[in-house]
Amino acid sequence: MSDSKNSSSKLWGGRFTQATDALVEAFTESISFDARLYRQDIRGSIAHSKMLAKIGVITNDEAKSIEQGLSDIEAQIEADQFEWSPEFEDVHMNIEARLTQAIGDAGKKLHTGRSRNDQVATDIRLYLREASDQTTELINALQTALLDQADQHIKTIMPGYTHLQVAQPISLAHHLLAWNEMLERDTERFEGARTRINVMPLGSAALAGTSFALDRDLTCELLDFDRPSRNSLDAVSDRDFLIEFAANASLVMMHLSRFCEELILWASESYRFIEIGDAFCTGSSIMPQKKNPDIAELVRGKSGRVIGNLQALLVLMKSQPLAYNRDNQEDKEPIFDTIDTLHSSLQVFAAMIPSIRFLPENMEYAALKGYATATDLAEYLVRREVPFRDAHAIVGGTVQYAIEHKKALNELSLDELKSFGEMIEDDVYDVLSLEGSVNSRKHFGGTAPARVAEALADARQRLASAMTLHKK
Ligand code: ARG
Repeated sequence: MSDSKNSSSKLWGGRFTQATDALVEAFTESISFDARLYRQDIRGSIAHSKMLAKIGVITNDEAKSIEQGLSDIEAQIEADQFEWSPEFEDVHMNIEARLTQAIGDAGKKLHTGRSRNDQVATDIRLYLREASDQTTELINALQTALLDQADQHIKTIMPGYTHLQVAQPISLAHHLLAWNEMLERDTERFEGARTRINVMPLGSAALAGTSFALDRDLTCELLDFDRPSRNSLDAVSDRDFLIEFAANASLVMMHLSRFCEELILWASESYRFIEIGDAFCTGSSIMPQKKNPDIAELVRGKSGRVIGNLQALLVLMKSQPLAYNRDNQEDKEPIFDTIDTLHSSLQVFAAMIPSIRFLPENMEYAALKGYATATDLAEYLVRREVPFRDAHAIVGGTVQYAIEHKKALNELSLDELKSFGEMIEDDVYDVLSLEGSVNSRKHFGGTAPARVAEALADARQRLASAMTLHKK
C-alpha cells in the first residue's frame, strides 16, 4: 500500500472520505508540465475576478486583493520562489491554493462561476495565441535571411532537378524563392488558425455554463479575445484549434526538413554546391577531414517528433465523447514539445542561412554535365517546324552521342549537330548555353533573371507588409 494523505488537503476533497493514493497522485498530477501556463492562468483569473466584481458577485475590495495576491504570486514564480506542489495537482489549483493562503477568504471566491475545464481551455488558448505570433515572427525572420541570399544569386545558374536527375537550368534565386513561397503559406496558415484559437471559453464552466449572470463580453475584452465561445460543451472539450496548430507546425517542419535534405546533399563532396559556415557545422571525432551539416540533419530529424505529436493529439481526441474528459490533460506535453521544437528549429535554421556560401562554378558545371539544355534544343527544333515528338527523339539521339563522346551539348560542332537535324543552324548555340536557356523562360512565374528580380521584389514587399501588420 502506498502512503495516503489527509483528504481535506485537496481543494475538491469535500465528498471524499479516503485520501488519494500516492500512486494516483503521481499519475494524475500535471503540475510538472502545466506550470508553464502560469502567466495565462493568472491573467485569466484577474480578468474573471474583475468581471465578478463588476456584476456584484464579489466586492471591489475582494477583486483588488485577488489581483494583488495573484500579481505577487506571479512575481514569486518569476523569481523562482514559488514552490509547486504535486499535492495540488495542476497549475490552476497550485495558484488558487497559494492565493487563499496569502489573502484568506477572498481567494476562496475566485472560482465562483468557473471550472478548471473552462479555465484550462482559456489558458491554453492564450498560450497558443502568443505561440502563434512568435511562430509567424520566426518564420518571417527566416524569410528575410532567405531573400537576402536570393538577392545575391538572381543570375547564378544551377541545375534544376526532377527525380533528383538534372532537368533544366534555373536561377538559384528562383530556387530559393520556391522555399519562400512555402514559408509564406505557412505563416498564412498560422494566421488563419489564430482566429479559431482566439475565442474565449470562460463562462462555460464545467460544461453547462453557470447560474451567475457573468458578463462574458467584459472578460473577453479584458483578455483580448475576439469573441466568447458560442457553445459551452464545445468550448470546454474540443482541442481542434490545438491540433490545427500542431498540423501547421508539422507543415513548417516538413518544409524545413525538405530544405535540410537539399542542404545536406549540396554540402556533400559529390555536389559541392555550398559551404555551410563553420559555426553551424561540427566535426568527427575520428575522421579529421569531416565537416558535418548537423544543424540541417537535426532539423530534419526533429520534424519526426513534431509530426508524431500531431498524430498523438489526433488520436488523443478521436474517441472522446462530449464534454470534458481528463484525457485532455495529455494535450500539454505534445503541444509544448511542438512549440519548443518548432521555435528552436526555425531560430537556428534562420541563423544558419546567412552562413551559407554558394559555389556557382560547381552548380554551372553540374548543369552542363547533366545536359540541362536538351529541352531547349528540342524547342529550338520545334520553332524550325519539327513536330515536338520528333524533336524529342532527335535530341535524345544527340544526347546519347554527346555522352559517348564525353562532350557537353554546346561542345558539339555544328556539323555534328547537323548530322542529327539539317535544319540546325549556328544560332543553336544561343539556346544551348545555360544563360540562353534560363533567359528564355521569361513568362510570369518563370526562371528568367529579369522575372526572378521582379518576383524577389514582390516577395520582399509582401513580407514587409506582413511584418508591419504583425507589429500593429
Ligand atoms: N489539469 C487538467 C487539464 O489539463 C485541468 C482540468 C481538470 N478538470 C477536471 N475536472 N479534472 O485538463
